[in-house]
Amino acid sequence: MSQIDLACAAFRTLLEEQLLRIDNAKVEKTDFTNKKVVTVGIVDGDGIGPLILERAKQVLNILLADELAKASIILKQIDGLTIENRLALGKSVPEDVLAEIKSCDVLLKGPTTTPMGGTMESANVTLRRELDLYANVRPVCIPEEGIDWIFYRENTEGEYVLGSRGISLPGLAMDFKVTTDFGTRRIAKAAFDYAKQNGKSRVSIVTKANIMKKTDGKFTQICHEVAADYPGIAADDWYIDIMTANLVNPAIRSGFQVFVLPNLYGDIITDEAAQIQGGVGSAGSANLGDRYAMFEAIHGSAPRMIADGLQAYVNPVSILRATVMLLRHICRQEAAQRLENALDSCKTLVTGERSGATCDAYMQELLANLK
Ligand code: IPM
Ligand code: MG
Repeated sequence: MSQIDLACAAFRTLLEEQLLRIDNAKVEKTDFTNKKVVTVGIVDGDGIGPLILERAKQVLNILLADELAKASIILKQIDGLTIENRLALGKSVPEDVLAEIKSCDVLLKGPTTTPMGGTMESANVTLRRELDLYANVRPVCIPEEGIDWIFYRENTEGEYVLGSRGISLPGLAMDFKVTTDFGTRRIAKAAFDYAKQNGKSRVSIVTKANIMKKTDGKFTQICHEVAADYPGIAADDWYIDIMTANLVNPAIRSGFQVFVLPNLYGDIITDEAAQIQGGVGSAGSANLGDRYAMFEAIHGSAPRMIADGLQAYVNPVSILRATVMLLRHICRQEAAQRLENALDSCKTLVTGERSGATCDAYMQELLANLK
């Protein structure tokens, strides 16, 4: 077979797989209001992951002491999702680890290292796909500037779903971006439902539909179809390039409320938004599906911090913000509020650099605030 024929055959398989994915995607929604036992899987991750997860576990043990004692909540430590183990096995998420993760209801996960290049998929991407975590929800708040943003990033399609399955011919490489009606409708619904339930009046749809005509064109169109079911909530369209500028434009940025956007744009703009709030160490992230959910820091495993001996200066805020989101998701509102209030009132500033406070100093203030 010629190289082109082989590439066409590979492409055909991709199309078939994607159509099958849509057919198999319906699962029952986990209802945490009546669940007798909630199992929270804990994955430490790589680099600074174990350091920040240790702090999150400490906080969970305090907040949930009663429920942990009577086993209505179980914290289940899951090992084996380390870069060393994944490379040794040649698996982005080893099967036994995935099976353990699937035995839990929700996951609190430290950042995992992704090898650049090669064919190994990011563990995050694998988990988002395997657990069908279609909504990546990232809040960013700066009360003194009137900024209260929440990003609904599509998390299972776009540039990511086939990101490790592109096609190479001599002198030519091609990756694929996938957008489905089904995948877009469910992320749009999640964003508009959030807006409706939280008294928001505006959802901004962010794409590059002038260039990515098929995929982003569909994304925009379906978002507007969904918007029609939410009278009283305005839906406006933006291109991602101007939106990155808008977020640093003080004249208009506080007017934005809820954002809905395809995967890659959501990845990029949420780092920008987190930086505006005080750095990627300051923002939490929820990956929500109907059955499972995974909560994590928005930042990576920061191998540079380990190499530079900055372990004492790691910032636990991002994973703790994610912990607040986890507690809300499993309907532990009181514990969530206690932690959120404690985080909001902390004055100690950890920057990830020697000039900032240490993680221990931060935790000392936080734990005092928790009381
Ligand atoms: C994020 C991260 C991930 C992503 C990486 C680790 C795969 O940047 O959660 O935003 O690109 O989605
Ligand atoms: Mg990112």
